[in-house]
Amino acid sequence: MQSLQQSKTKENIAKPRTKKKVFIETLGCQMNLADTERMLGMLEDIEYYPTDKFAEADLSILNTCSIREHAVDKMRSYIGKWDKLRKPGSLIAVSGCVAQQEGSDLVKEIKTLDILVGTHNIHRLPDLVIEAENKYREALDNGVEGIEDNRGINFSRPQTAEVWEELPELIPETPIFRKTKYFAWVNIIYGCNYKCTYCIVPKTRGEQRSRSIEEIKSEIEGLAKEGFKEIILLGQNVDGYGLDIKTNFTTLLREIHKVEGIERIKFLTSHPCDMTFELIETVAELPKFSKYFHLPIQSGNNEVLKRMARRYTYERYMELINYIRKLMPSATVTSDIIIGFPGETHEQFMDSIKAIQEARFDACNTAVYSKRPFTPAATWDDPISAEEKNERIRFMNAIIAETAEKQAQRYLGTIQKVLVEGPSQRNPMRLAGRIDDNKTTNIDCDPELHDKYIGQFVDVRITKANAWALRAEIV
Ligand code: 5AD
Ligand code: SF4
Repeated sequence: MQSLQQSKTKENIAKPRTKKKVFIETLGCQMNLADTERMLGMLEDIEYYPTDKFAEADLSILNTCSIREHAVDKMRSYIGKWDKLRKPGSLIAVSGCVAQQEGSDLVKEIKTLDILVGTHNIHRLPDLVIEAENKYREALDNGVEGIEDNRGINFSRPQTAEVWEELPELIPETPIFRKTKYFAWVNIIYGCNYKCTYCIVPKTRGEQRSRSIEEIKSEIEGLAKEGFKEIILLGQNVDGYGLDIKTNFTTLLREIHKVEGIERIKFLTSHPCDMTFELIETVAELPKFSKYFHLPIQSGNNEVLKRMARRYTYERYMELINYIRKLMPSATVTSDIIIGFPGETHEQFMDSIKAIQEARFDACNTAVYSKRPFTPAATWDDPISAEEKNERIRFMNAIIAETAEKQAQRYLGTIQKVLVEGPSQRNPMRLAGRIDDNKTTNIDCDPELHDKYIGQFVDVRITKANAWALRAEIV
């Protein structure tokens, strides 16, 4: 699918351009990491190439996240720091959820910002960059005072901002610059139709829009040809995939499973309300699927779940977990929990603790509830003190670590398949990768042999197991 905007970009690149460098700092979730790869892909078309050195960048982009409080302050502080350190003549841009949430007026407040682009119109980035470059050049030609070193007192930066309130009708396909070599993220669905009362995602990412099966499959076939072996399907609610285009997630999974060359497939994030028994059976049946589920529970108490508008009960959640464990006894299950949702009592909090132990999570992200603009819960009474919430999260994290440690022991002595990603960052004498059900595994291996294994699936025996990682030897 080619968008009008994209062909406009193509016209622009017909002009000769000099090669430039772009630096992107990504905050937040996998969705933002995928957007960063998309931005790098699009920018390559207009001769901007990635750098990991801020000081040499001609364009620096902060890809923001707004899931928790202080997101706007955090962005201001980044931009303030960047403005002091930026290479003269370079441009600073803000993209992502904070841009979408705040709208284009944000540039009026932050005078040092050159470009602002929302999540709904991220495909417009190359055009906006060219527009900003042109405005900057014009100011330079007109001898605007201070522009040469871009810190002049009278220099008011010419700003370019575009944030679409409405979602585009089509999801424009864009080039993608992959940072990883052996596994790749593939977006299958954008946005979310749920309206959990604490969550800003429906505001920043819009309604659910599924990509077609053909489009997703052809992207994955392309990846297989390039040598990628594993793909991770991404979406705010992957189980809702297809409901807006008269298909469903299991149909997609069966189609993708046929792609030759792709040996391992994962997906995240799941929603307990849309996850079906049929999906669990499909994952159990098809060998390329990792037996790995990221299924956020958010709370173990039905009253709290109701106020969160999660639309399932604790009992239903446990039914799904029990079915997963029945069909795939060694499956990995991870989750997310919010602590101190407005009005959460101590007893209700303890129900979440019980849930961790009963569901036997292999890992669980925890966050103290954070008030978000435009969300219903933001207006509700929240009598629990910050100290109490901090106390609760500390206690919960200890329970999670204990549960994860116990869970990890099931791997001891077993043979597992690791897709080796490269040397371990902590200890370059070891190789690092993930086993089928996603656990990070460090392999003792002579560095001279590293090249032989990197990018390959390697059989290993697990020699040590702790809460967050495994150690192994090659068999
Ligand atoms: N406060 C705290 N945590 C939140 N999450 C989403 N919104 C909020 C909020 N307002 C958490 C949820 C979600 C994860 C991505 O972030 O647990 O699953
Ligand atoms: Fe947010 Fe709920 Fe949608 Fe998840 S399902 S993105 S928590 S609204």
